Formats: sequence, structure tokens, C-alpha cells
Amino acid sequence: MPLSNGDAMDASKAEIADYTTAFEVLKRDYTSSDGLDIKQLIDSDKRGALTYNDFLVLPGYIGFAASEVDLETPVTKRISIKAPLLSSPMDTVTEHSMAIHMALLGGLGVIHHNCSADDQAEMVRKVKRYENGFISDPVVLSPTSTVADAKELKAKWGFGGFPVTENGTLRSKLVGIVTSRDIQFHPKADDAVTAVMSTDLVTAPSGTTLAEANEVLRQSKKGKLPIVDENGELVSLLSRSDLMKNLHYPLSSKLPHSKQLICAAAVGTRPDDKIRLQKLVDAGLDIVILDSSQGNSIYQIEMIKYVKETYPQIDVIGGNVVTREQAAALIAAGVDGLRIGMGSGSACITQEVMAVGRPQAASVYSVSQFAARFGVPCIADGGVQNVGHIVKGLAMGASTVMMGGLLAGTAESPGSYFVSNEGQLVKAYRGMGSIDAMEDKKAGVGGKDNKASNAGTARYFSEKDRVLVAQGVSGSVLDRGSVTKFIPYLMAGVQHSLQDIGVTSLTKLHEGVRDGTVRFEVRSVSAQAEGNVHGLHSFDKRLYS
Ligand code: IMP
Repeated sequence: MPLSNGDAMDASKAEIADYTTAFEVLKRDYTSSDGLDIKQLIDSDKRGALTYNDFLVLPGYIGFAASEVDLETPVTKRISIKAPLLSSPMDTVTEHSMAIHMALLGGLGVIHHNCSADDQAEMVRKVKRYENGFISDPVVLSPTSTVADAKELKAKWGFGGFPVTENGTLRSKLVGIVTSRDIQFHPKADDAVTAVMSTDLVTAPSGTTLAEANEVLRQSKKGKLPIVDENGELVSLLSRSDLMKNLHYPLSSKLPHSKQLICAAAVGTRPDDKIRLQKLVDAGLDIVILDSSQGNSIYQIEMIKYVKETYPQIDVIGGNVVTREQAAALIAAGVDGLRIGMGSGSACITQEVMAVGRPQAASVYSVSQFAARFGVPCIADGGVQNVGHIVKGLAMGASTVMMGGLLAGTAESPGSYFVSNEGQLVKAYRGMGSIDAMEDKKAGVGGKDNKASNAGTARYFSEKDRVLVAQGVSGSVLDRGSVTKFIPYLMAGVQHSLQDIGVTSLTKLHEGVRDGTVRFEVRSVSAQAEGNVHGLHSFDKRLYS
């Protein structure tokens, strides 16, 4: 008679089978694989309230190296990235520096909107200009521009090396190039750039392919390669630093037809946000996230339709949602992606104050498996404290995972480090629904003119509200070093985990969960204690080196 999982002991009493027949015995005598399939896992919790800590994934068979595990995944219906990791649109997490580095490392940073529309658009522009193939709209100087102008542009854009043309525009005769070294120690700020620029130029003719131009650049040992037409007029520019970036960041998130980094930013759903969005689109935005703690609203549905009609080239991610019904409303309105989570964020008190929300693993499963029927990828947003939580979010059906608190302590988040009362190096981290963020009191966080506009916190209150009800707290997180080390650690951790599970890619993980070959186990409170460090007198928890 076939045995269920719990009957294994009886089998050993009944017979000592020939060990070479282990697989046959497995097939013949057991009705199902060990552990639970996803449906049984979800049903196992009669309260329907699974969190990431309540379950584990069971190991499978390893027949490949962890480094071979493919983490490519969709973030919207049209756009895929190489690492399933996103940074939150929060003013203590994602400005241009975080967005640039997340994209270079294969993920995506979503630029917050707790600043003026112009500041946010400038951040988008910085991301889009960061890495290029042929730069088709380079910053160009005229012969009357001064050394001070060049220094100012370098400070603004973060790069030097400006072509100088007769009219100071593209499609005008190239007369020289001003590099950082030309202006660095030049004593007279008022001098015209023609006094310091290089005129000994290596150029390539228009029509040169990217590969050919890269080769000319390599050979020339110059920093920039201007591309000129038959009249010597500037057409575009190629930069050596982009060659280096391609070398150092092979996973970077780019659209196939462009060499620029993919840029995502958040906006709200007020009438003003349409003006903001226009500015972001003009700056080159690729993906917009409609930022709301409860996304199933008339405002968001109308905004989704507006974005899809007005900017068909832009992908729109809706949310946040935690139920199938919420998801259905946004899918019907036309979203290209969904963001899942309500109340699970580390700086969040929504569940306590509003009595509304849902445990994160249950939310991710419910929404993702429904959205998958329409080909809509999902982001598991919030509550991620470690690599294991990332894997569990993905195993529940999410395509990507969004993090706030885990990334707020990195060098690329906004704001400066300071020493806490306990003598530790920390950085500020605050919920966008904290009183602090809503009153927008803190200086130095959230863009230059943060005090002028608190659009980002509109997620948590409306202008008509007389009393601000906090849904978040304000605090600090420990220094985590640079994301250039931390993101590769998270990715390597996910790859090792998927290797243990026995799947070679995120696509295979999702398939395995769907067809029941990836198995789960419920984790009791004592199992959770067993799975953590215990019984040691003291220990040092270094996570990577
Ligand atoms: P964390 O990664 O656990 O820190 O969660 C980050 C997520 O928390 C964000 O992406 C938002 O969805 C959410 N969040 C941000 N601010 C607040 C807040 O003030 N209250 C509730 N949730 C918040």
C-alpha cells in the first residue's frame, strides 16, 4: 500500500529494502514528494497568515555550480533585469547615486518623490546620462564659455570632458575638447575655455559602428572620442569611462536598444503628479511606480489609464496591493507590474495603527499567482531582513524584491553617516509615513529643496487632513558599506540558495513551485529558534567578505 509522508517509519519495520532500489521504493511506496507543495503550505496555516519566517524551502538536487544560477527576471511586462533586487522610493534610500549603482549592479533603484519635480527630474537625468554608447546629446561648450562654466558643469553632471564647437551646440564645427585636467588647476576662472582646451583631437567619422569607435578610443588613449560628419561638425561623442563601466559592470540594467541605464521613479496620483511625470519623462524615465500604500483607488486607476494613454513608451507599476481583488482592479486598468506589501516594512506601523494590511508571504503568494495569469510581474516590497527573505519572496511568486531598511545604511543612500549614542556608525532611515517625513522637517535628507515639497509623503496623507496620522517611524540603521559589495553578496546568496533548492534559474524556481517539485516545510516557533544561532557563549555574525 502506498505510504504518506508520516508513514515512513512503518515502511522500515516492514522491510529492509535493497539500497539500490531506493528510487523505485520512493516512487512505488509514497504518494507524494516529501514536504508540502505551495498550496498545502498556504493551507497549512489556517489563519492564512504566513510570514517569511513561518516556512522554509526544502533542498533539492545539486547538479550545477551556484555561479551558474541565472537571476534574470522581469520587472515589468516589457523590461527584464539581471538581478531581482530593487531599492525603495524613500528619501533615505534612493536618489540618483543609489539608482545608478543599483542599475550598474543589475538591479534597479526607484527614485523617491519627496522633493520638487525639478529635483526629481534632475536625478533621472543623472541616471540616464551615466552610461552611454554614442552620447547623442552631449554637454557642449562654446569658445566663449569660461573655465568657471566648465567647472560648474563638471560639478553638476559629475563628469568632465566637454567638446567645444563654434556655436556651442551639437551639429556645429568641433574646435576642441576641455578635459577635467585642463581646468583642474587653471588659476583664472574667467579665462575662455579656448585657452585651456586640447585641439589635438582624434575623431571618428559619422557612420562608424560602436565596436569600431570603441576600438579607435582604445587605441587613441584619449578620454573622449568625438564623432564628426564630413564638414567636421560634431554629431555625437563616445566616452572611455563608459568602456570601463561596461567592463566593470557586465550585468548593468539597460534596455536592448540603448546603452543607458534603466531609470525608474515614483510619483503620486494627484493632478500635480501629471506635471511631475511629464518632467520625468522629458528627462528620460523608463518606468514609473505609482506610490500608494493602498493602491486600489479611483485615483490610481485613473492615473494608470492616463499614463498608458499619454506615454505608451513608459511602463507603469501599480500598488501597493496585498489581495487578488486589489490586483484585479489595477491589472484591468492596464498596469505593467505590481508592487506587493502593506504593513511589512521595517519602519512601518500601518498594521498597528490602521488595522489594515497582510503578512507578507501570504500577500506575495496571493497576488503573484493571480497576476501570473495575466503575465504581470510582481515586486515583493518590504520586510526583507536577509538573503533568505529575498528567496522566500521569490519562491512565493514575486519576480523581484524591493528593499528599504536593508539598503539605507549603504554609502549610496542619501544623507551622511553619524555616530549613534552607543558609538556605532549609522545613517538615518525613516518611513515615508512617519511624522518626520510628513512634516518634512529633517534637513539634508530628500533632495535640495525637500522642505519646499512633500509630495512623496502624499502616499500617507491628503492635504485636507487636519491631523497627521503616522504610519511609519523615524530612526537609524547600521552602516553597511557600499552597495557595490552588498548587492553582489545578496546575489551570490540567492544563487547559493537556488542551488540548494536544485533550480538553475528564477524561471525554474517559479516553474518548480507551480508544478509542485519545489517543496516547503512549515516552521514552528521552536523550529525558528533551532534555525538561528543558539547555545553559543558569544559569536561574531559577519555575513560576507
Ligand atoms: P523595508 O525594506 O522593510 O524597510 O520596507 C520598505 C518598504 O516599506 C517601502 O518600499 C514601502 O513600501 C514601505 N514603507 C515606506 N515607508 C513606510 C511608512 O511610513 N509606513 C509603512 N510602510 C512604509
